[in-house]
Amino acid sequence: MHEPSVPPWWRESVIYQVYPRSFADGNGDGIGDLPGLIGRLDYLQGLGVDALWLSPIYRSPMADAGYDISDHRAVDPLFGRLEDVDRLLAEAHGRGLRVLLDFVPNHTSDRHPWFVESRSSRDNPKRDWYLWRDQPNNWRAAIGGGSAWTWDEGSQQYYLHFFLPQQPDLNWHNPQVVAAMHGVLRFWLERGVDGFRIDVAHCIGKDPRFADDPRCLAGEVMAHINDQPYSHELLRGLRRLVDGYPGERVLVGEVNIRSTERIVEYYGAGDELHMAFNFLPLDAPWDAVTFRLCIREVEALLGAARSWPTWVLSNHDSSRHRSRYGGSLRRARAAAVLLLTLRGTPFVYQGEELGLEDAQVTPQTRVDPGGRDGSRAPLPWLREPPHGWNGARPWLPFPPDAAALSVEAQEASEHSTLRLYRRLLAIRRASPALRLGDWQELPSHPEVLAYRRQRGGDLRIVCINFAGRPHAFPLAGAWQVEIASDGQGDGASFGGALAAEQALILKPREG
Ligand code: NOJ
Ligand code: CA
Repeated sequence: MHEPSVPPWWRESVIYQVYPRSFADGNGDGIGDLPGLIGRLDYLQGLGVDALWLSPIYRSPMADAGYDISDHRAVDPLFGRLEDVDRLLAEAHGRGLRVLLDFVPNHTSDRHPWFVESRSSRDNPKRDWYLWRDQPNNWRAAIGGGSAWTWDEGSQQYYLHFFLPQQPDLNWHNPQVVAAMHGVLRFWLERGVDGFRIDVAHCIGKDPRFADDPRCLAGEVMAHINDQPYSHELLRGLRRLVDGYPGERVLVGEVNIRSTERIVEYYGAGDELHMAFNFLPLDAPWDAVTFRLCIREVEALLGAARSWPTWVLSNHDSSRHRSRYGGSLRRARAAAVLLLTLRGTPFVYQGEELGLEDAQVTPQTRVDPGGRDGSRAPLPWLREPPHGWNGARPWLPFPPDAAALSVEAQEASEHSTLRLYRRLLAIRRASPALRLGDWQELPSHPEVLAYRRQRGGDLRIVCINFAGRPHAFPLAGAWQVEIASDGQGDGASFGGALAAEQALILKPREG
């Protein structure tokens, strides 16, 4: 396969995940919404990201924070109206920002009219739109880990759900379901969205034999192991549909299988996902060996398949990376240099540019049945409480140090994490080597990870010291520090050493 001479926009982009409930509140009800987001687009443009991915905004009973959809073509009143999506698209596009929505193909809400019909009787025409059986097998659901089957008293059968019982799985083996879900994609593509993040893309094809899976006995949940050939056929269908629209619309899939080899398959022969999330860094501790092995594996397996990698350290399902790194802001800042200089498309999760930690959630403030509230806390915009959330108390408590980490405070402080992210994003945007260049590992102390990025005459070296002590990193030639994660030495000549938990981008010394 040939590399396109002009790469598609998403290869050169940094994508910012908006968790709409917690981004910004436009109407003072304590829940973030689309008008709130539109009001903060200048902030995102100023940050320097290229595209936004919004977690679901569709009508939903909110059993799983919107991942349980009851109407795919309507905006939930909590978030606004359909016209707000149109306005968001126009306002974002006007600022050069693309917008991806979340597409949730594996399941709907149990209140979706399709399921209401399906469960109404065994001979309802939509019965076969979901997966009904007389006997359950041993499959396990995520979020709670119980059986993936729930007994329906009314129609005296079990239905399948890889997640909550309120999220019945669609039967993509039925062509009417395929057609209906294609219709959903068309609806949004025609409104002008630039692509989709596909929720659990690997789950849509099911084992037609419904065979017990021994891994479920050992406690595994299907959402982490389901991997069927039929999903690939379905993804090819989605890809053909999306490719039929102008403007390089993109599909980035959540393939929540912890195996790079398996994930690569979901790029197909360039005819399935444009990109798949790579989950290892979302679990990885602050450890040079873990990252080195993970990056080498991605380079080896995706490089060979000419599949474009993605990098992500935090999202709405995982603990924020600063919290995973023992609460260390120094480490989180060094990790930002790593995230934004690897080969591939980085995803920034809202609030990581502020160096936020997970909020402390108590049994009284807990909302999510899956215990994932910590990383979903509202963003602090202003120093003074309620930090720009004027009106009802926000739906979750603020993260720790909300005043000092607020956007307002960090805009005013030269060495803040926000200013670091802005500079990193600007440096990346200006450097072909960082956006598109080759990746080559350099010899270094085991606690230091170092690599070279090059494209044509543009060259950078990135080095990250994971250790709590300084390390030498001798380099031939004359190099200059373009940026240091701790703000120490920007623009200075590189002296051949890294401070504890420091990351640097180096460029050849000028003159
Ligand atoms: C993955 C989403 O990211 C998560 O938040 C959700 O609970 C499940 N898929 C089910 O849709
Ligand atoms: Ca609101």
